[in-house]
Amino acid sequence: MNVIELDQVSFSYGERKVVNQVTLAVPKGKHVGIVGESGCGKSTLLKLLSGLYAPTEGTIKISKSVSIVMQTPQLLPMTILENITLGREYPKEWIHHVVNLSCLDQWVASLRDGLDTYLGDRANELSGGQAQRIAIARAVCKNSEIILLDEPTSALDHETEKSVLEALRRATEGKTVIHVTHQRSHLEAYDSIYQMREGKLYG
Ligand SMILES: Nc1ncnc2c1ncn2[C@@H]1O[C@H](COP(=O)(O)OP(=O)(O)O)[C@@H](O)[C@H]1O
Ligand SMILES: [Mg+2]
Repeated sequence: MNVIELDQVSFSYGERKVVNQVTLAVPKGKHVGIVGESGCGKSTLLKLLSGLYAPTEGTIKISKSVSIVMQTPQLLPMTILENITLGREYPKEWIHHVVNLSCLDQWVASLRDGLDTYLGDRANELSGGQAQRIAIARAVCKNSEIILLDEPTSALDHETEKSVLEALRRATEGKTVIHVTHQRSHLEAYDSIYQMREGKLYG
């Protein structure tokens, strides 16, 4: 069963076509990687998939809920917990599971106020890796079937990148994933890898 189907999808910013006739089917549970240089249309493609933009041509069918992790995490002046749940209620056990999956458990345990630590005052004390793990936890907490990853580690140093990629691998097991990146090495063990060039997708 395909949970994502794009049929001849194009998108233009004004006159400029940046996604060009993309056709793609992603079966449930598959991890799909898309590699391409900066500017080739990767982020635009994910914005189409997340419903932020509507295609100018073609059709997109998505049969499940979607979460997205972007290059730079958008943290809010709230507690760590609220940044993960965005104010929705979840069972304690689920939060615990999500925090472990996202590799936040050790750091959170080291904080006096744990998950209730207010990030407004501490936002600049956070490392890029911690911030991105919170963003991953937010995506995982929703328990969406589909997870979209837009160069989720490109703002991190090499060591942190490795650990965040590992957190992502754990957190997305069993999910349907589309991961766009300019670095093919981040897509080891992916089920299929496509190339994107100037808005076109190549198998
Ligand atoms: N909001 C926008 N308005 C106009 N052009 C844009 C906008 N966002 C991106 N672009 C252009 O569209 C092309 C594809 O961008 P993007 O999808 O961000 O590529 P990538 O994520 O692969 O770097 C680029 O040339 C970029 O400059
Ligand atoms: Mg991009």
